[in-house]
Amino acid sequence: MSIIEKAVDKAGLTGQELEGAPDRDETIGAAPSFSQGKPLPDKPMSTSNEAGLRKRDSFKGTQERVEIDWGRLAQMGFVTPSDVNTKTIEEYRNIKRPLVYNAFGAGSIGIARSNLILVTSSVPGEGKTFTAINLALSIANERDKKVLLIDADVARPSVSKTLGINSPSRLGLIDYLENENVDYADIELLTNMQGLRIIPAGKLHKYSTELLSSNKMVLFAEELSNRYPDRIVIFDSPPLLAATQGEVLAKLVGQVVLVVEAEKTLQSMVMESVNKLSVCDVVLLVFNKTLISLSDGYYYGYGYGQYASN
Ligand SMILES: Nc1ncnc2c1ncn2[C@@H]1O[C@H](COP(=O)(O)OP(=O)(O)OP(=O)(O)O)[C@@H](O)[C@H]1O
Ligand SMILES: [Mg+2]
Repeated sequence: MSIIEKAVDKAGLTGQELEGAPDRDETIGAAPSFSQGKPLPDKPMSTSNEAGLRKRDSFKGTQERVEIDWGRLAQMGFVTPSDVNTKTIEEYRNIKRPLVYNAFGAGSIGIARSNLILVTSSVPGEGKTFTAINLALSIANERDKKVLLIDADVARPSVSKTLGINSPSRLGLIDYLENENVDYADIELLTNMQGLRIIPAGKLHKYSTELLSSNKMVLFAEELSNRYPDRIVIFDSPPLLAATQGEVLAKLVGQVVLVVEAEKTLQSMVMESVNKLSVCDVVLLVFNKTLISLSDGYYYGYGYGQYASN
């Protein structure tokens, strides 16, 4: 019996309740290709440089449900269900579009586990968690989309804390990978946004890298992708150049979002990260914390970056 079937069994559901037609979003064209041409001089990534970096779900009953305080999140600059036409909504609309296109339907052809997306960066603090949460909220906010957000930054988890749903006793990904007695239904949280579910990181573990590279994790990723083809799974991860876990996770997903902090992250770091991701089918760059000149002044936001694909 598969891990998810076990959870279904535990929740007393039928297999049919888990099935769902894949979403189709075929309105978007392919993103431009990332140029991997001549080496560029090493300097902080900037909006103006030549690199071109511009700007089922049916587990009912037994699962815990958490309440996210949307007012608090809105104050912190996150996308929330009541947002209609804010800049943040608009920016994440642009960022998620190619990801959703690649995840389902015609866009997913040739991409293994296209509905699994890893959000990473070269070094700490570039905005991985900010981007992972905003992407998850932005996609789950669409009526017909379902999202599972997994905190896979298991050494320095911050998804639950940022969302204000932290609980020290709560089980998560690492507990599931480590303990045979922890079921899928024990780690997946329902939320007060229909379509959004969360898996926390779980307890700190000395061998978290080994657990993330274990066969159980590979099977888990495979099963998440196959069992829920209509759902996008977003993994928040550690930085690529500071730990090996990000690279390990990148091999399990179909798409990677590489967050690049504007005016700070060196081009050499970005290229090193892109090299580490060379096995990935799709790598999209999000240029974060950009200062973009607009007619009405400057704003602190995100530019949609470029795209590397094999
Ligand atoms: N585009 C943005 N606009 C405003 N604030 C941002 C933006 N991106 C990131 N931040 C803020 O910058 C800080 C660092 O972001 P975040 O925690 O997402 O980085 P991280 O890459 O996940 O860091 P770590 O490597 O430590 O996990 C946070 O306070 C976050 O709210
Ligand atoms: Mg983080």
